[in-house]
Amino acid sequence: MFYPASYLSRVWLGSKVSPKFLPQVARPLAAHIKLTENCQARCISCDYWKSRWQDAISTDRAISLLDEIHASGITGLRFTGGEPLLRRDFFEIMRRADASRFEKIIVQTNGLLPKKLHREINDSPITKIAVSIDGLRDTNDQIRGIRGYFDLGVEGIRLLRDKEVVLSVTLNRLSAGELEGLAAAASEVGAQLEFNILSRSLYFLANADLEAMWPAKADVIKIAKFLRDTIHRPEYEIDYITRYYNREKLAEPPCVLGYLQVFVLSNGDILTGCYPLKPVGNILKDHLADILASDEYMRQSEAMVRRECPGCTCGVESSLAMQHAASSALYQIGNLAHRPAAAPRVPAPSSSTSPASASAADSATHASS
Ligand SMILES: C[S@@+](CC[C@H](N)C(=O)[O-])C[C@H]1O[C@@H](n2cnc3c(N)ncnc32)[C@H](O)[C@@H]1O
Ligand code: SF4
Ligand code: SF4
Repeated sequence: MFYPASYLSRVWLGSKVSPKFLPQVARPLAAHIKLTENCQARCISCDYWKSRWQDAISTDRAISLLDEIHASGITGLRFTGGEPLLRRDFFEIMRRADASRFEKIIVQTNGLLPKKLHREINDSPITKIAVSIDGLRDTNDQIRGIRGYFDLGVEGIRLLRDKEVVLSVTLNRLSAGELEGLAAAASEVGAQLEFNILSRSLYFLANADLEAMWPAKADVIKIAKFLRDTIHRPEYEIDYITRYYNREKLAEPPCVLGYLQVFVLSNGDILTGCYPLKPVGNILKDHLADILASDEYMRQSEAMVRRECPGCTCGVESSLAMQHAASSALYQIGNLAHRPAAAPRVPAPSSSTSPASASAADSATHASS
């Protein structure tokens, strides 16, 4: 029997007190899967759309992979990409793999297909749809490179039934002054707001125009004000984001993602919850359980805690929360493992979810969400 609370206690103790407390076997809480890295959008912050990627994981292997993930005790799936809904066999995989066995199934999408696929989504065991929208209509369409993207995304959301829906916004210069408006737009369609911190060190961002997106000091002040006053993020997180965007020196937390998340890329490579570090196996050659139990997986996860890495902001909210958590909050931190690379969840201002209860993980760290 697997007890996430004691596992997370060990991760917490191992990252805060001594590495000798770290778990001996990785039991990630969530698997983030890229069945495709192709994409039909044209975002200025991301390179995926510029290449033609080979989808190496067949329908049958995707189905057996979900079996292996379930057998490993992983309870949450996050499908991302590229654009995950471009896989024509996506709903067939859900159905044939009996994906309803998972507690959480999140699809991170660019929002161009949910309108067309709303029936399939509504009939599927997907529990949450996260639609990436980076600003109000004109700004979003400029950033995502597709005219009509914002309206299409919102129309798709309106057709979804009985799914948790969030807008995922990457905090940036162009929409820094629109965040309150975006939270209100999310609220109007019954969605929450999540945010990403703009990354600059990932393989799929190498040629993205991040300078065009990078907030100037005045924009950072607006972003921080929104995070503090409107959505009540914890002060340590706002401080981190402010320093990061202002390119100041940062006190980087030990990275615990190797213990919380496992990544599967479209070529079958397995990553220890970290894009910049090397793959530790490939599911086209090995079973997931063997990769998770390998010395290499454990060695790399431990090295991540020591921050032997190039550094990135992916999932930094999990590592920050772990660093600031009281031990009683560890079970709640498990919720963060299901989140995207860097996306604390925040409520829309007028949503019925109270700031204090929107994210148990954050309330556990004396923060509201
Ligand atoms: C790479 S996309 C893949 C899923 C899907 N295509 C989408 O856009 O939602 C995953 C998330 O990364 C965000 N993103 C794009 N460029 C980014 C960057 N430079 N830094 C951080 N997040 C970024 C996207 O907006 C999206 O929320
Ligand atoms: S952020 Fe998502 S939608 Fe935009 S190019 Fe990258 S993968 Fe495609
Ligand atoms: S902080 Fe370092 S170890 Fe953690 S995900 Fe980023 S690059 Fe990997």
